[in-house]
Amino acid sequence: MSPPHATLRCIACGRAYPLAEIRYACDACGDLLEVVHDLGRLRAARSAADWKALFAARLGALDGPHRSGVWRYHELILPDLPPGDLVSFPEGNTGLYRHPGLERASGSADVRVKHEGENPTLSFKDRGMTAGVSFARHLGVDTVACASTGDTSAALAAYAARVPGLKALVVLPRDKVTPEQLAQPLAAGALTLALPTDFDGCLRILRELCGRLPLYLLNSVNPLRIEGQKAIVFEILQQLDWRPPDWIVVPVGNAGNIAALSKGLIELRDLGIIDRLPRLLGVQAEAAAPLARAHREGYRTRVRVTAGETAATAIRIGDPVSYDRAVRVVRATGGLFLAAGEREILDAKALVDAGGVYVCPNSATAAAGFLAARAAGIIEAAAQVVVVATAHGCKFSRATSEYHSGPHAGGPPARANRIVEVDADAGAIERLIRAR
Ligand code: F0G
Repeated sequence: MSPPHATLRCIACGRAYPLAEIRYACDACGDLLEVVHDLGRLRAARSAADWKALFAARLGALDGPHRSGVWRYHELILPDLPPGDLVSFPEGNTGLYRHPGLERASGSADVRVKHEGENPTLSFKDRGMTAGVSFARHLGVDTVACASTGDTSAALAAYAARVPGLKALVVLPRDKVTPEQLAQPLAAGALTLALPTDFDGCLRILRELCGRLPLYLLNSVNPLRIEGQKAIVFEILQQLDWRPPDWIVVPVGNAGNIAALSKGLIELRDLGIIDRLPRLLGVQAEAAAPLARAHREGYRTRVRVTAGETAATAIRIGDPVSYDRAVRVVRATGGLFLAAGEREILDAKALVDAGGVYVCPNSATAAAGFLAARAAGIIEAAAQVVVVATAHGCKFSRATSEYHSGPHAGGPPARANRIVEVDADAGAIERLIRAR
C-alpha cells in the first residue's frame, strides 16, 4: 500500500497520528489535532497552473463527485478517501455576489457576499459535514453525534440520513435554536436532545459521553470537519480567478470556521496557487465576544465569557474550542477580531437582505463588523472585501419579521419595511398605491 497522503498532527506539540484513528485530542498534551497534507507531493504532482486548470475543468461537472464545491478539490481535502465513500448532495457552488448596498453604505469600491446559505441545509456547515460524514462512513461507525447551536445539527442529520444504517444524535441548548433549525434534525430522523444549558454546556456533556459510548463526534474538534470547511476559500479564490481579495470577513462562534479558512489559504499559498494571504476579520456578537475582547486586550490572556442573549444565536458561544488556533492564524494573516452590537447586527442584516441576498443574523454580524472596520479606517475604501454569509435568512424568520414589523418600543428601526394591512378590495389598494 502506498503511504498515506495526509496524517493527523497536534497543533501544539506536533505529535503525529494516523488519519484513520478516531481521536479528537493529542495524547501527549491534550490540544486539538489537524490534518496535515503532504504539500511536497502535491507540488510535485502538478504545477500551480495545472492545479488551477484541473479545478477549472471540473467546474460545472454534471455528475460525479466533482459536482461538489468541496470534492472539486478532493486532492487538497482528504486525498486518501475513496470517491466511493463520499456522502455528497452535492454542496458548495454557492454564489459570490457584488453588493452595491454594502458598497454605498461603506464607501467601498468592491464588496462581495459569499452566500453559504445556498448550501443544501442552508448553511456553510454542509461543507464540513460532507467531509465528516464521508469519513464516518469510511470508518464504518454506528452513530455520528454533535452539539450545536442549530446549523451543525441540521447538516449532521441530513448527511447521516443519506447513509443507510448510520444513526445521528444531536444535542441542542433548549430554546436557544430557531424553530426552523430545530425542525431540520427532527425531519431527518436524528435523535434530538434539548438540554437546559447553553452550547458550551452541551458540548462539554457530549464530549464526556463520547468517552463512554461508541459515538463519532462531528463537532469542529474533529479535524476532518475543518478540511471540508476550508473549501469555502478555495471556491472564493476560484471565483475571483485566484486573485486574493484584500479582506475576508467571517462571523465567529466556536472559531472552527475561521481556523479552517486560514488553513485553506495558507495551503493555497504554499502550493503557489495564490501569491499572498487575504487578511481575515473575525466578527463576534458583543454578547458573546471573547476573541474580540482578547484583541482589545492585546491577546495577553485566554478570555472566556458566559454568553449573553443575542439575535445571532448560532454564534452565542463564550468559550470557543478553536480559540488558540484562531488567534494564531488570524494574526498570521494580519487580521483581527471585532464585536458588533445588536442594533448594528440587525440593521446590517436589513441592508444585506435588501440587496436580495437573504442572510441570517450571524452572517449579518460579519457585515456589521465590516461596516465598523471601514468606519474606523481598519479596512480601506479601495480594498476588495468578501463577507462570508454563513446561513440563509430562512432559518431565522422571526428575527427578520420582528425587525420589519415590530412591535418596536421607541419606533421602528432604521431599515424597517412595515407590513401594510389593507382591505381585500381593489379600490382600497389602488388608492394606497397612488398615494405612495
Ligand atoms: N454562522 C453560523 C450560521 C453558524 O451556525 C456558526 C456556528 C457560525 C457562523 C460560527 O462558526 O463556530 O466555526 O466559528 N455554528 C455552530 C453550530 C456552532 O452548532 O451550528 P464557528
